[in-house]
Amino acid sequence: MDDKVDLDHMGSVMSLPPAPVVLVGLADNEGERNNIITVGMFNVFSVRPPILGIAVTTARHSYKLLEENDEFTINIPGKELLEKVIACGESSGSNTDKFELTGLTAVKGKRTKAPRIAECLINIEVLKTQSFEVGDHTWYLGEIKHTDIVEGYERNQALLYWDGEFWSAADRPLKALRPD
Ligand SMILES: Cc1cc2nc3c(=O)[nH]c(=O)nc-3n(C[C@H](O)[C@H](O)[C@H](O)COP(=O)(O)O)c2cc1C
Repeated sequence: MDDKVDLDHMGSVMSLPPAPVVLVGLADNEGERNNIITVGMFNVFSVRPPILGIAVTTARHSYKLLEENDEFTINIPGKELLEKVIACGESSGSNTDKFELTGLTAVKGKRTKAPRIAECLINIEVLKTQSFEVGDHTWYLGEIKHTDIVEGYERNQALLYWDGEFWSAADRPLKALRPD
């Protein structure tokens, strides 16, 4: 332990390894302008039943949409969508149609009104079940209503992110605990 150095609290958070970055699809209340927000703060809150969560700050246009709507989609982008992921994280749905901006395709949800993003590897339709504020973000948790996944999906296709850096997983797992 003596070879470790002290780190401030922000440095502690920012040193964490990268995790999936997701594109969240939202319909507005009148169903007029669909929106996409890039979210790095995504987590699995329960496996049985499956509960997923995303964290969004009040400053975002998507915050308003999440407050008004019970449904959203969590879409897992592949590495080739990197620039579009950045574009959705640097523009606001308050003045920009991000589907038009990026050329990403909105597909009507199968079980919800929220738009799925066709070009993503996985589309998860979520029904919001609870939300709560924690520090500078509001967490929106929801149950899965439906999932679509590309054929032949492999985890190393997905994009990872943290602290301003995009990563991807190594080609193969170091070890698989599940039997083949
Ligand atoms: C890689 C990346 C990750 C981001 N993660 C989050 C996040 O977890 N929560 C959040 O509120 N904003 C996050 N942002 C910022 C929003 O995506 C950004 O402010 C966006 O323009 C908001 O769009 P909106 O105004 O249409 O909601 C992230 C941006 C990038 C580029």
